[in-house]
Amino acid sequence: MEIISSVTDLRSRLRNEPAIAFVPTMGNLHQGHLDLVRIARQHGKCVVVSIFVNPLQFGANEDFGKYPRTLQDDCSKLESLADVVFAPPESELYPQPQQVAVIPPLENDLCGAFRPGHFRGVATVVLKLFNIVQPQLAVFGKKDYQQLYVVRQMAAQLNLPIEVVGGETARAPDGLALSSRNQYLSAGERTEAVFLYQTLAGVRQALLDGAADYAGLERRATQALGARGWLVDYVAVRNQAGLAQPREGEGELVILAAARLGQTRLIDNLEVCI
Ligand code: PAJ
Repeated sequence: MEIISSVTDLRSRLRNEPAIAFVPTMGNLHQGHLDLVRIARQHGKCVVVSIFVNPLQFGANEDFGKYPRTLQDDCSKLESLADVVFAPPESELYPQPQQVAVIPPLENDLCGAFRPGHFRGVATVVLKLFNIVQPQLAVFGKKDYQQLYVVRQMAAQLNLPIEVVGGETARAPDGLALSSRNQYLSAGERTEAVFLYQTLAGVRQALLDGAADYAGLERRATQALGARGWLVDYVAVRNQAGLAQPREGEGELVILAAARLGQTRLIDNLEVCI
C-alpha cells in the first residue's frame, strides 16, 4: 500500500490503472469505513482510500478543530485492504480559496437545515476528489443517508462516469451506529446514545404495523428523545427515492434523525419497506 499526499504524485501513480474503486473518508477509521473498503475490494479493482478532514463542510462552531486525526493508525488498518491512501494536506486540495462550488439538492433540508453550507462543502470536495482520482466506482455509507443521496444525484445530474455504491451501516452490538464522533461521548452518554437507534427502530415497527400518520410518529419520537435530555434537530419519515415526504401508500421509506447528546451531534437512519 502506498501513501501519497500530492495530487501530481497520485495522478501519475493512477495513470495506468484501468478501473479504480474509491472510498473517500475523513480518517479515524472504524469498522464501518473498513466495510466500505472491503466492498470496493470486492469489485477487484485498484482500491484508493482518501483521508482528508475537509474544512469546507464544517460550520464555524462545529468540530473541525477537534475532529480526531489518526493517520498512522488509519494506514495500519488499511495496509492489507487498500492499494493507495491519498492523504493530502489542506494546501494541496485548496491551494487558493475555493470559489467554485457544487450546489446540491436538499441543501437546506434535514441535516442541511441545521448545518448551513455542509452539503455544498461535501459535494464540492467529493467532486474534486472524483476528478483527482477518476474512479469507476465509489463507495459511500448509508449511515450518512442524505450525503449518499447528494452524491448519487451529483453523479447522475453532472454525468459523472462513476457508479456510486451504498454500504450498510455498521453498528456496535447494542445498535449504536459507529461514528468517529462517538468518542466525544462520556460513559453515561454512550449508554444513552443507543436510544437514538431504539427510537428509530420503534418508528420502523410502528410503520410495519400499519401506522401512516408520519407527522404524529415524528412528533412522538421527538418528544421521547427530548424527555430523556436529547436536543432533537429532527426526526423525519421520508421516501427513499427522493428523501421527500412520502405520498400515501408509498412503501420504500427511510426514517432519519439527528439529535444532540450534550456537546455531541449524532445522526442515524433506518430503511423500512412496507
Ligand atoms: P466520514 O465521516 O469519514 O465517512 C466516510 C464514509 O464512511 C462515508 O461514506 C460514511 O457514510 C461512511 N460511514 C461512516 N460511518 C459508517 C458506518 N457506521 N457504517 C457504514 N458506513 C459509515 O462522510 C465523510 O467522511 C465525508 O463527508 C466525506 C464523504 C469523506 C467528504 O469529506
